[in-house]
Amino acid sequence: MDFFQIVEDRRSMRKYADTPVEAQKLQKILEAVNRAPSAGNLQAYEVYVVRKPEQRRELVKASGEQEFLAEAPLVLIFCAEPDRAAERYKKRGTQLYCIQDATIACTFAMLAAKAQGLDTVWVGAFDEAAVSEIVHIPSGQRPIAMLPIGYAGKMPSVRPRRELSDLIHEV
Ligand SMILES: Cc1cc2nc3c(=O)[nH]c(=O)nc-3n(C[C@H](O)[C@H](O)[C@H](O)COP(=O)(O)O)c2cc1C
Repeated sequence: MDFFQIVEDRRSMRKYADTPVEAQKLQKILEAVNRAPSAGNLQAYEVYVVRKPEQRRELVKASGEQEFLAEAPLVLIFCAEPDRAAERYKKRGTQLYCIQDATIACTFAMLAAKAQGLDTVWVGAFDEAAVSEIVHIPSGQRPIAMLPIGYAGKMPSVRPRRELSDLIHEV
């Protein structure tokens, strides 16, 4: 699939079909994640794969009833790991780079999913402490984004964007 077509076709999916994600597709997504750039190549993030229905139901509660977290067959949770970035980058590593690392990794997962006919939605609105407890995330790590992955239930319409002329500044 052409890269620009993937970018064009991707949109936030909040309704999923009851179809499992093939193991080899998930593997390709995770390998794409592992190719994401990171500050100093330190990869200051961890990824949790959540499949258990009971855990996904708990994630729904921890995110203000975002039901699609239980509907999609799997959810990836991207966590920043400040300690990995701390030694080399100090405050900039712990406050910025580890979050950027996790964010870029999640973006790679989104696009790798779409390239294989799967859909996702970035979930940022959740109770971090509750999510950490549900998935047993170690205390040094911070969940940054959750990404349900699955086959489309109902394709949403394209969301509008700002004009490029409003967004881009030639200086
Ligand atoms: C940082 C971030 C946090 C987001 N949090 C949520 C969320 O908690 N729930 C949700 O349904 N969508 C969430 N979204 C998805 C956005 O609403 C969506 O990307 C935006 O409306 C544009 O729509 P599109 O992705 O279909 O192009 C989030 C996106 C980002 C980048």
